[in-house]
This record gives sequence, C-alpha cells and structure tokens, in this order.
Amino acid sequence: MTEPRRIPLIIVGVGNVGRAFLAQLTQTRDALAQRYGVELSPVALADSRATLCDAEGLSAQAVRAAADLKVGGRSLAEAPGAQPGLAARELVEWAARAGLERAIVVDTTATDGMEPALQRALALGYGVVLANKRPLAGPWEGAQGFFESPRVRFEATVGAGLPVINTLRYLVDTGDEIARIEGALSGTLGYLCSRLEDGEPFSLAVGMARSKGYTEPDPRDDLSGMDVARKALILSRLAGWPMELEQIRVEPLYPGEMAALSVDEFMAQLPRLDSDFAAYMGALAGVPRYLAEIGPQGGVVALRMVGERLAAQLRGTQNQVSFSTRRYDEHPLTLLGPGAGMEITAAAVLQDCMQLARACT
Ligand SMILES: NC(=O)c1ccc[n+]([C@@H]2O[C@H](COP(=O)([O-])OP(=O)(O)OC[C@H]3O[C@@H](n4cnc5c(N)ncnc54)[C@H](OP(=O)(O)O)[C@@H]3O)[C@@H](O)[C@H]2O)c1
Repeated sequence: MTEPRRIPLIIVGVGNVGRAFLAQLTQTRDALAQRYGVELSPVALADSRATLCDAEGLSAQAVRAAADLKVGGRSLAEAPGAQPGLAARELVEWAARAGLERAIVVDTTATDGMEPALQRALALGYGVVLANKRPLAGPWEGAQGFFESPRVRFEATVGAGLPVINTLRYLVDTGDEIARIEGALSGTLGYLCSRLEDGEPFSLAVGMARSKGYTEPDPRDDLSGMDVARKALILSRLAGWPMELEQIRVEPLYPGEMAALSVDEFMAQLPRLDSDFAAYMGALAGVPRYLAEIGPQGGVVALRMVGERLAAQLRGTQNQVSFSTRRYDEHPLTLLGPGAGMEITAAAVLQDCMQLARACT
C-alpha cells in the first residue's frame, strides 16, 4: 500500500474547539488515511502565550499532553519543548522556511488580527480553515479574498455543527438566487429565549446562562447581538451580497448606558431590565426569539416575538436557518438542530480540513 500523503496542520487556538478538534484528529487519523490516502499531521500548536512545533509532525503523545495541559486551564508554555508564543504570521513563515507544502492553517481562536497570517498562508499555497468569524467579518476589502479562495473553508463559523455554509455554497454554486435568509443563529441567545419563554425574569435567565458557561465571561459579548451580526454578515457575503457590518442593524438586549459598566456592575443592574422585557413579551403574541433577517440590501438582528414561524419551535441552544431562493420559493430550504457545542463544532473543522486535504491529492 502507498504511504498516505501527509498534510501538515498549523493549529492556532487550543481552547474548547481546538482541543476537541485535536481529540477527533487523533481518533480518526488512521481511518481517514486508509480511506482517502491522506494523513492530517499537526506540526504546530499555538495558544495565546506559547507555541509547540515540529516540522516532521508532533507525536500523538505530545498532542495529547498539550491538550491535557489546556483542559487544566494551563498554558502551552508548560509543555516540554514549547517556545514563547510566535505570532500566527511568524508561525506561517516558520512553516515556509521548513519547506512545508500544502499545509493548512486552522484558526480556532476568537481573536482579531489573524488576517495577515491567513493571507500569507494563502499566498504560499496553503489552505485555511476557520472557526474564527472575525477574519470573515472585517471590511469587505480585506475579507473578499477569503470568500473567493477555493482554499478557505469556514463551516464552523455559522450554526456550529449544522451544515449551513455548505448548503449555502451548494445553492449559490448551482445557480440558485438567494432572496432572503432568516434564522436563529445563537445557541446562547436561544437558551436565554427559552428561559424567557418559560416565564423567567431576564436577569435570572442571563445569570443562569452565564453560570452554565453558555455565555462569554462578559455576557454583553452575547447580549450585544454582535456575534449574531457577524454570522449574518458571513451568510450575506456568501450569498453574493458583499455588504459591510454597518448594513446590518443590531438591536442589543441591553441599553447603551450599560455598556461602560464593569461585568459585576452590569450583572447587578440587570434586574432593572426585567419589567421592560416582561412588558414587551406581555404586549405581543408568540414566543421571544433573537433572529437575523437578511436580504440583498442589508439586514437586522433583533429580538422578535414569533408565533407561526419555525423559530417558535426551537428549544434551548438549537439553531435554525431558512434560505428563501428562486428554487426554494414557497417552502424555504431549512436547517434546524444543535447550534453550539465543541464536539460538533470541531467535527465541522475536521471535515473542512479533510475536504481541503483531499482536494490536494
Ligand atoms: N464553542 C462553541 O460551541 C463554538 C461554536 C461555533 C464556533 N465557535 C468559534 O470557535 C472559536 C473558538 O472557540 P472556543 O470556544 O474554543 O474559544 P476558547 O476556548 O476561548 O479558545 C480560544 C483559543 O485561542 C487562543 N488564542 C487567543 N488568542 C490567540 C493568539 N493571538 N494566538 C494564538 N492563540 C490564541 C486561546 O489561548 P489561551 O488558551 O492561551 O487563552 C485559546 O486557546 C471562536 O471563534 C468561536 O466563536 C465556537
């Protein structure tokens, strides 16, 4: 049997998704090599403080030890052989100097500023797989190349484990015309809305979502609606509407004057919003859902009271996306299912890597 073709992986970000991805990679490595003749081989791991690299491929043992360190909330800096953190761009240059070909850069961070590294990777002929939405949601001038390159994949950025991006690509690539996209795109806000629907006051629902780890440490990162707006922007750009973030109107779930508070002050002041939410929901029929509605000219992400719409059936962290198109006119093409979770998100990242790797064989 011929040796499988080795595809080097540079993995930036070893948090929840990055770790789950590494575990799935180890589990599936042999089977995928046998089935497709491709071996996905991690050559570099990076967190915010340190880097672990070996151009020949990190051993399964080293990868497992690094992931175990991170589960314990520690830094890769403590791993044997780790170096002080290289910026992602430097890591890509290291790979080029080491003569690595057909590598894939996997961005499982949630940080700004990855664009130069990703652009350099593409210039070197490498692939790019993103769970990080930010490079796709910056100004169109910089992001356009990521949408147009056949070597960039980003299934995990919207709908976590739902095949939202692949479905939209299929519609666009087969010549369908997208008229409108609508959906509930946040698992965190879905959970919050379910609790509001059950009659819980807003402040308690936010507190519960936070204590379960569903929100970011500062819940305003979710409640601001910006994460949903970025997802809506990614869908709109992929649909062929190259808009900017400003064309999506975002209605946050808290008033502007609470933006400057510390996290503790914000949490302490949340109960003063309870009566407004109760009044809003009492005045309108239906159940609360935080929805994105996008068309060719722009979009809105906001809390809505829905009755008849499919989104009314969602529970907990479920997501839903509906594409109304020329072909799917009367009945939109709809995806519905779990919209959060590191396992399903990591599987989307793995599938993107495999698709890119197979395209190079
Ligand atoms: N969790 C989900 O269900 C889900 C679903 C869909 C999409 N996503 C997306 O997936 C991405 C990762 O999510 P997560 O939950 O895994 O986040 P996370 O647990 O916060 O992990 C982020 C990782 O990125 C590292 N990092 C931050 N800045 C870096 C830098 N400049 N260079 C190298 N590494 C850096 C962090 O390092 P330290 O460990 O040193 O802090 C950490 O390891 C996010 O963009 C998120 O929006 C997540």
